[in-house]
Amino acid sequence: MKWSDKRRREEFPFFCYREEIYLDHAATSQRPQRVLDAERVFYEKQNANPFRGLYELGMEATDAYERARKTVQNFLHAQYAEEIIFTRNATESLNLVAYSFGCHFLKEGDEIIVSIMEHHSNLLPWQMVAEKTGAKLVFLECGADGTISKEQLDFAFTERTKLVAITHVSNVLGCQNPIEEVVRRAHECEAVVVLDAAQSIAHRPVDVVLLDVDFLAFSGHKMMGPMGIGVLYGKKKWLEQMPPFLRGGEMIESVSRTGATFAPLPHRLEAGTVNAAAAVGLEAAIHFIHEIGWEEIRSREEELTAYAMNQMEAIPEIHILGSKDPKNHSGILTFTVEGVHPHDVASILDADHIAVRAGHHCAQPLFAHLNIPSATRASLAFYNTKEEIDRFVDCLKPLRRKMGYGK
Ligand code: ALA
Repeated sequence: MKWSDKRRREEFPFFCYREEIYLDHAATSQRPQRVLDAERVFYEKQNANPFRGLYELGMEATDAYERARKTVQNFLHAQYAEEIIFTRNATESLNLVAYSFGCHFLKEGDEIIVSIMEHHSNLLPWQMVAEKTGAKLVFLECGADGTISKEQLDFAFTERTKLVAITHVSNVLGCQNPIEEVVRRAHECEAVVVLDAAQSIAHRPVDVVLLDVDFLAFSGHKMMGPMGIGVLYGKKKWLEQMPPFLRGGEMIESVSRTGATFAPLPHRLEAGTVNAAAAVGLEAAIHFIHEIGWEEIRSREEELTAYAMNQMEAIPEIHILGSKDPKNHSGILTFTVEGVHPHDVASILDADHIAVRAGHHCAQPLFAHLNIPSATRASLAFYNTKEEIDRFVDCLKPLRRKMGYGK
């Protein structure tokens, strides 16, 4: 089905209430009505604490939550539902792997490969693992367009490599990393691969079996789902060996004065009351993505990205970070304006009701590597419009003049 611009926008109540031109989708997306409805209906009609109540309502709540898990399983093409662990967000998912896998299975002398473009959420947990175990971090550097060269891969992988933590898509450059090649090399040296899919999950289909990654993390809120729900996918053979990250609630089998045995997967890794309403909301977001279709999402994002890039590149003082190819941006256009601080760029745009993010985007090592202190980021979704991009570019044109430059 081909969705018109108008039809797409009508799905999102946000645009009925706010005048903003929202260009901060890499930070969080807007939500379609059906996601909001799914959460509300859960609380209105099915609300009980999953796994606790042995009454009909409690079982309905459990079923709704487990159905959401199954939907995520199918979305990722995972083999087993118990390979899907619900968390609060991608950051928590990555910390879970770091604490429960990294701290237990890595040792002094092992090497952990991370890329220089990692979001802090996929760097700080591995710095912690290195500190606790004596393992060493090895960085994959990238070119200005985000490319990780074969030479870099040759240099980074050794027989000491035990874990690779890498982002699928950079939240700054929008480029897609060569995951197939990384996985091939990692598995050759029997290392596991942790893929941070937070920034790719809303833009392209992800098949964990085809990719053959060992772990994968993402947040619901960047793919039109609710805030407060995230996912960790892990191969069953690893998850089964991992000690619980958090303890308490229905993640046990039995508890005595001195110890406990734990429930089978996935519950042993989901301590405390779960966010069932948000899981159901995430399920609605997945159905929405399937209804729109990946091809429609991809082609529309590429069209809008190319449209924005063309106009921005015509302004000589604006420099877009990353690839020259709009197809390798995942809707992310991070840029600098000569002589103007990114915070000023964002404030001037904000005065015209245009929401963009400015700063280091939780990726300080990448900015240091590129030798750029900070930048402004416009990030698009398939439901943005060309009129919005025109207004954004119209605001960029006089920006330097507003800051006191001649033109
Ligand atoms: N990680 C999110 C971003 O890149 C919040 O803005």
